[in-house]
Amino acid sequence: MASVLIFGGSGKVAKSIAASLVKKGYQVFSVIRREEHIPSLRELGATPIMQSLETASVAELASTIRTHAPDAVIFAAGAGKRAFAEPSLSLVVDRDGAIRVFDAMVEAGGTKRLLLVSTIDTRNRDKAVPGWYSEADRKGSEQLWGILPVYMKAKFEADKDLVEGNQRRGLQFTIIRPTWYGEGGRTGKVRAGLANFEPKVSREDVADVFVACVENPATAGCVFEVSGGEVVIEDAVRKVAEEKIDSFGEMFR
Ligand SMILES: NC(=O)c1ccc[n+]([C@@H]2O[C@H](COP(=O)([O-])OP(=O)(O)OC[C@H]3O[C@@H](n4cnc5c(N)ncnc54)[C@H](OP(=O)(O)O)[C@@H]3O)[C@@H](O)[C@H]2O)c1
Repeated sequence: MASVLIFGGSGKVAKSIAASLVKKGYQVFSVIRREEHIPSLRELGATPIMQSLETASVAELASTIRTHAPDAVIFAAGAGKRAFAEPSLSLVVDRDGAIRVFDAMVEAGGTKRLLLVSTIDTRNRDKAVPGWYSEADRKGSEQLWGILPVYMKAKFEADKDLVEGNQRRGLQFTIIRPTWYGEGGRTGKVRAGLANFEPKVSREDVADVFVACVENPATAGCVFEVSGGEVVIEDAVRKVAEEKIDSFGEMFR
């Protein structure tokens, strides 16, 4: 049976990914930091594993990966609302936790496939604005970096570490960078690739993009944005893979 291990397994996107993968016959291991999520994950058919990204060492994370030997690892964790009160938590979880997972995959020595949740517009803002940005995107960028500067820095540095450190690590990674989440629920359609800030995208559709990437190994090496849109998710992801979309090339980081 194919299997996937999700760090941040109790998150809203992560649970939606887990539910879909379980329905498709995958074994899902959900790594979580709070026991209260155990019953709901068991109900979904996932196997909860207790481990906090704040305290676990690379060796401990590697041991979790080695023990469960998943076909793919998903990093879907984030400090989230806790970082509003304590912004440095974004650095601890979204950046350093992610980088420890990248290193742990190497130390574990088995699983190569990694899917990372990032966010739209993680880029070096000293460089030129991406060519596909509209005026609204430029404003969206100002707003996002203005409201969440530490979070954006954390996500940027994690993405950069993964991309630039990969000659050494040799992972088969895909970075998925959604725009703001909206509450519309599952539509089955998105815009993926060099997407814009608007329309917002639902967490369920983002989760389905992850599932489509798990099932499409040709997305390895792709870094792409996701917004609300009109293309059936599997088709949108297939096009990203065919065109080898990389919205985080050297000129953006
Ligand atoms: N909100 C947006 O508009 C937006 C847009 C684009 C991208 N994103 C990204 O998408 C990600 C997923 O979104 P979401 O809605 O699913 O977020 P979420 O529900 O807040 O999920 C994040 C998960 O990370 C877990 N986590 C936090 N600290 C951890 C730690 N130390 N060890 C292990 N797990 C830990 C949380 O567990 P606890 O509940 O126990 O803390 C939570 O289950 C976000 O983190 C964000 O980076 C968000």
